[in-house]
Amino acid sequence: MGFNNNQRGSSPVVDFTRRKDVMKKIPIIIDCDPGHDDAIALAAACASEKLDLLAVTVVAGNQTLIKTLRNAKKILNFIGKRPLLAAGADKPMFRELLTAPDFHGESGLDGPELPDPADYREEPVPAWDLTRRIIMESPEPVTLIPTGPLTNIGILFTAYPEVKRNIARISLMGGSILAGGNRTSAAEFNILVDPEAADIVFSSGVPITMCGLDVTNKAFLLPEEVETLRKTGRVGRFLAELIDFYFGMYLKLGFKGAALHDPCAVFALTNPELFQTRNFHVDIETRGSLTQGMTLADLRPWTDARPNVTACLDIDRQAFVRLLYDAGALYG
Ligand code: BDR
Ligand code: CA
Repeated sequence: MGFNNNQRGSSPVVDFTRRKDVMKKIPIIIDCDPGHDDAIALAAACASEKLDLLAVTVVAGNQTLIKTLRNAKKILNFIGKRPLLAAGADKPMFRELLTAPDFHGESGLDGPELPDPADYREEPVPAWDLTRRIIMESPEPVTLIPTGPLTNIGILFTAYPEVKRNIARISLMGGSILAGGNRTSAAEFNILVDPEAADIVFSSGVPITMCGLDVTNKAFLLPEEVETLRKTGRVGRFLAELIDFYFGMYLKLGFKGAALHDPCAVFALTNPELFQTRNFHVDIETRGSLTQGMTLADLRPWTDARPNVTACLDIDRQAFVRLLYDAGALYG
């Protein structure tokens, strides 16, 4: 897992001295498994003037790693941003991979056709090595935004625990406090795929903002709002076409709109005023025969367990929709 210094010599992987103008922005790394709602999170992060996107790392989850990596390249290329990109784990730390073709299709990003940018290459090192190097070289603490299974971050914290000192926060999509699961009655998909990695992250001591199903099921777009998004610009049209596909499964499940889980983890950072939050101590169930992957929150008012997450429980949906319109429009 060691980073091969010869691949980049001793010069920093990100030239922070040339980023003085962005020093006021929040430096972030997005770790994702695109994925329709991951794509929307990437577009929202690229559009935000509050964020400095240092790198994107990719993990297996919604689809296999080959597919999620290809999708990340296509999305970023279409948006017109080419941040540093690295591929991470092709399976969970100690388990076999579960994917979600029912929600995201065989490609992981079924729906709109996008060109495959052959000249956008990933870094020749794994996600955790690139992430470690950026974090250790950054003059400001870095915020991680995981929107897939937590495998890459679990490996990062295991191999390089020193990085925790220079991480400001993890703002993640995963789990739920009171809303139950989606992939099983107890577990949300991202946590269920790699509960051991989630356990490492939740017990790491790094501050966590958790956007679980409590809030992300409320972050939906109604059909008429998708039509407005479609008219905002070329990226807005692309996001609407993604939702056209993704909506199908949510309609079947009885939702009145497509729940856009992953952008919540971005907006919780850029627009915390949209969210109602509460602090909890949350443990990850790794072994229960019915409850594997559950995020077990200690709800006892008298508990002396130290809170390890700030959980987003509700959202100003109208304001969320307006932020998506802004992201769609930004690219003309
Ligand atoms: C999560 O699972 C994935 O299918 C979505 O991209 C999101 O990250 C929701 O449970
Ligand atoms: Ca995702």
